[in-house]
Amino acid sequence: MSAAAESLDFRLDSEELKKNPWELLRRLRKEDPVHYVESMDLWLVTRYDDIYELFNDPRVTGDRRVWEHYQRPKEGSFFRWVDDYGLMAVDRQTQAKQRHLIGGGLTPRGVRGIDQKIHDVVQHFAKPLHGRTGVVDIMKEFTTPIPVVVVGHITGVTAPGVDDAKFSQLAQEVIRGFFTFVNDEVRERADRNYELLSAWVRETIEARRREPKDDLISYLLAAQEGDFKLDDDGIVAQVSAMLAAGTETTSSGGMLCLTTLLDHPETLERVRADRSLVPQTVLEVLRYAFGGLGGTQRYALDDFEYHGRKITRGKAMMLSGGGASHDPAVYDDPDTFDIDRDNSNLLTFGRGQHYCLGANLAKAELGAIVDAALDFLPPGAKVLRDQAETESLGIFNRNKTCPVDFGDGS
Ligand code: HEM
Repeated sequence: MSAAAESLDFRLDSEELKKNPWELLRRLRKEDPVHYVESMDLWLVTRYDDIYELFNDPRVTGDRRVWEHYQRPKEGSFFRWVDDYGLMAVDRQTQAKQRHLIGGGLTPRGVRGIDQKIHDVVQHFAKPLHGRTGVVDIMKEFTTPIPVVVVGHITGVTAPGVDDAKFSQLAQEVIRGFFTFVNDEVRERADRNYELLSAWVRETIEARRREPKDDLISYLLAAQEGDFKLDDDGIVAQVSAMLAAGTETTSSGGMLCLTTLLDHPETLERVRADRSLVPQTVLEVLRYAFGGLGGTQRYALDDFEYHGRKITRGKAMMLSGGGASHDPAVYDDPDTFDIDRDNSNLLTFGRGQHYCLGANLAKAELGAIVDAALDFLPPGAKVLRDQAETESLGIFNRNKTCPVDFGDGS
């Protein structure tokens, strides 16, 4: 290892770096773009071009069973199913068929009136925020419940006797069980919550078999991709994964859209006056604010040389989200929030074989969230960062609340 690389020793879960990884990322890209992180025994990749290639590189896989530190989830658990039959695990052909089937259910052809449903849900939560004064938790009251209600409408799944906030919390806790670097407690809670989530999905399957409606479950019950069809267990797992995947990401994304705009009041006023700028604003938030030091993982299928490094079979490679999206080789002045830049090459939703199936849905939801918020956020509203509650999830932190001072109405 070079002297420069040695001096770059750090912990991925350092609180300081979770808050501000940018200086370190600049050094890593320049001095050691494929850096061995000893404390986690993985390679951290920080340049856009490398991450772009690794998303489709046949020498690595997203199948975590290949990882040398892999621990098999317990028999019969959801995560065991995901690891053995999920989109990262199955062979390429089956994965393509599954994606086509599920992806078809997320288009206007699969679920009629998606855009109207999104609009109605967002407006339902926006309405009580008009004319509000004082401190408002924009996560609790706005960005957290929206995605779970939207995905609930799209899939057809409801949670009887459970309010939107609780449903959302359950779904968010399930998705955390998918993350490789979380502790046993998080994984056990995810497993328990999956039991509840999957029971609701199973009830919906029974109901839709009797009486189909315009939703993903009815679509999946009827749809077939060539000789491939999902059985009930497959539908339960895929729809539950969708409820989980579509909740945490979009809820945080919504919060980041609003806080980033509040931090840039000139841009906020520009977009407020011209709503045609909303889609490009969302894309720029996904670039500017979404990624940190960490990111999604790939695992080496065999030994290979990479940037002069010896990557051995079974080692994890972490593709840094902030590394790619703030790389000056691709984005001029990357630490500046600039809604006029070209973001057509964004990697926030991944790339290639596993490109996010919910990307269009997420962009539509985030667009509707921004558009509705511009009608209720008073000029001069301020994010009260030091009063926000956060929780640590290993290599990243998540906001539990996001208080914003709406002022006194004068
Ligand atoms: C801002 C919101 C979102 C972000 C940033 C995001 C990000 C990502 C990324 C980076 C991947 C690729 C992972 C990899 O290659 O390792 C992915 C995959 C996936 N996402 Fe999303 N996602 C978002 C919202 C959603 C929504 C709303 C849904 C569904 C309702 C969804 C469903 C999926 C699924 C099913 C996959 C797996 C695809 C496959 O393996 O073939 N995501 N997402």
